[in-house]
Amino acid sequence: MCGIIGYVGNKPVVDILLDGLKQLEYRGYDSSGIAVECDNQIKVYKAVGKLNNLREELSSHAYEISKANTGIGHIRWATHGVPNVINAHPHTCNCGKLAVVHNGIIENYKELKQKLEALGCVFKSQTDTEVVAHLTAMNYAKVNDLKQAVQLTAHEIEGAYALAIMHSDEPNKLVVTKRNAPLIIGVGEGEYYAASDIPAFIQHTNNAIYLKDNEVATLTPSELKIEDSEGKPIIAKVEKLPWEPVALSKMGYKHFMLKEIHEQPDVIRNILAGKLRCSDEPICLDEVKLNKDSLKKLNRIQVIACGTSLHAAMIGKYIIERFCQIPVDVEASSEYIYRSTVTDSNTLVIGVSQSGETADTLTAIKQAKAKGSHILIITNRPDSAMAREADSLLSVNAGIEVSVAATKSYIAQLTSFYLLALYMAEIKESHNIAEINKIKQEMLVLPQKIEQILVNKDNIKACARKYSSTRDFIYIARGINYPTALEGALKLKEISYINATGYPAGELKHGPIAMLDDTMPVLSILMNGSVYEKLLSNSEEAKARNAQMIALTNSTDKKLDELFDFIVRIPDVDEILSPIVSIIPLQLIAYYIAEFLGKDVDQPRNLAKSVTVE
Ligand code: AGP
Repeated sequence: MCGIIGYVGNKPVVDILLDGLKQLEYRGYDSSGIAVECDNQIKVYKAVGKLNNLREELSSHAYEISKANTGIGHIRWATHGVPNVINAHPHTCNCGKLAVVHNGIIENYKELKQKLEALGCVFKSQTDTEVVAHLTAMNYAKVNDLKQAVQLTAHEIEGAYALAIMHSDEPNKLVVTKRNAPLIIGVGEGEYYAASDIPAFIQHTNNAIYLKDNEVATLTPSELKIEDSEGKPIIAKVEKLPWEPVALSKMGYKHFMLKEIHEQPDVIRNILAGKLRCSDEPICLDEVKLNKDSLKKLNRIQVIACGTSLHAAMIGKYIIERFCQIPVDVEASSEYIYRSTVTDSNTLVIGVSQSGETADTLTAIKQAKAKGSHILIITNRPDSAMAREADSLLSVNAGIEVSVAATKSYIAQLTSFYLLALYMAEIKESHNIAEINKIKQEMLVLPQKIEQILVNKDNIKACARKYSSTRDFIYIARGINYPTALEGALKLKEISYINATGYPAGELKHGPIAMLDDTMPVLSILMNGSVYEKLLSNSEEAKARNAQMIALTNSTDKKLDELFDFIVRIPDVDEILSPIVSIIPLQLIAYYIAEFLGKDVDQPRNLAKSVTVE
């Protein structure tokens, strides 16, 4: 996912742009660039690879651009055109007077490109974005006003975009607009910022305006003007952002991922505070706008998500069906949007997304909303596009998650699903209150159980070191921890690039067992409970094929020492709550293996923190 930043004010703009892009690195990128206004010209600098390469490129121009106070910047995650300097943003029109940076996809760029080429525009790049530069320049030639030119462009382009545009004939000015992609305006003293996400300017101001789809904002050092798509002035609300810059520091940890893994006990405490005070009080979840009658009318729940959020959704299915007796379907967003679904007004549709901007999930939610379903969104970003579609919004409040690998947001999503299921069960009176209260009591001590794991990491680290050179990894589990196996495998896959796969243990003998030999580690997520014995026998089957056996278990059974080559023991917990605890060692195993292998843990290759393109 790309990231854009813009600044207009009275400070030197170059470092503001570079530092802002640095804070957006977590979104994933393969090239970067800035455009600054100086001596009545727009100067553009771009580089492939990490931001240091751009800094290197700028170093020989430092003096000439040191006085610039207006500019735009971009980090690019390639969608159209390979990562190279020509395709890097900013893009300019042929005369070089106009520059644009863009996050999103212009879906009708091909026909616009043909039209513009026929009018004499010469394209340099393979990108969709360059169309915006030429089209806006053509419009500018007609109206001689940058804001109006951008408004004309916005009416002609289709798809998703957050744009920041500048023109040398209108110095000290940026014009920004968006549709289906985030764009936030930072409000300073005699200065304004525009960016894809808050971290880009949070160290300068925590006053912000969330631009809405199709609005056009004109930023100058002395004034901010916002208009809707028809040119009607908008008085926007300036919000005080809840974040402090400390959220963007590693606080002494080597990587954001390790910091965020260690934040998980407090994340659970923060979510439970105010919602689950003690086990014999009902759960307080006023954010859920479903009363007893509407809950009783529900004939199905459809949960839609991607990646780690999909694994949280799969665990949500087990929990809701167990306590609420409502059938729950879970589906990857990318599959849901291309299937003829039977969602209707008696279906509760739950969208799960850390970023709240994942394109596939956003599209699916809009489809379900159009069919009359009640939309409940579970997200870490209450300021996101998905949150704005919600009839009920469950913000998980895990704090900004910088590492591409989702950890604390996953734990926060799981905790939210437990609260939601128990809340609905209490309203529906669908489950015996004694068991509900027992589970609530156990939830209150989950943070301490996770802390026990986090203070005893040596054995987990030894396990990671022992298996860090393996090429393939199989995770097996049964029941509510089957999604845990998928999530543990995804963590290892996405940050160490090892081919890790999660399977329901009962499926091993239907094919995967053919792969087993002494080069293949098999990790069993062996939790006390209804499927313990079954999983133990699956593990024995794998052992009989000479697989290297690892147990992640809360069992104290000594017999395990004979069967397993390595055992990671965790504190005991009720089976229904075990996914919240069992994932912690798997996050740490993935982290330590990736660290041992010297991988870019927080920004794995090819990945973005939020995939805002389909
Ligand atoms: C998880 O570690 C990955 N970063 C990825 O699978 C992620 O969960 C997925 O892209 C969904 O993102 P979202 O939760 O922001 O919608």
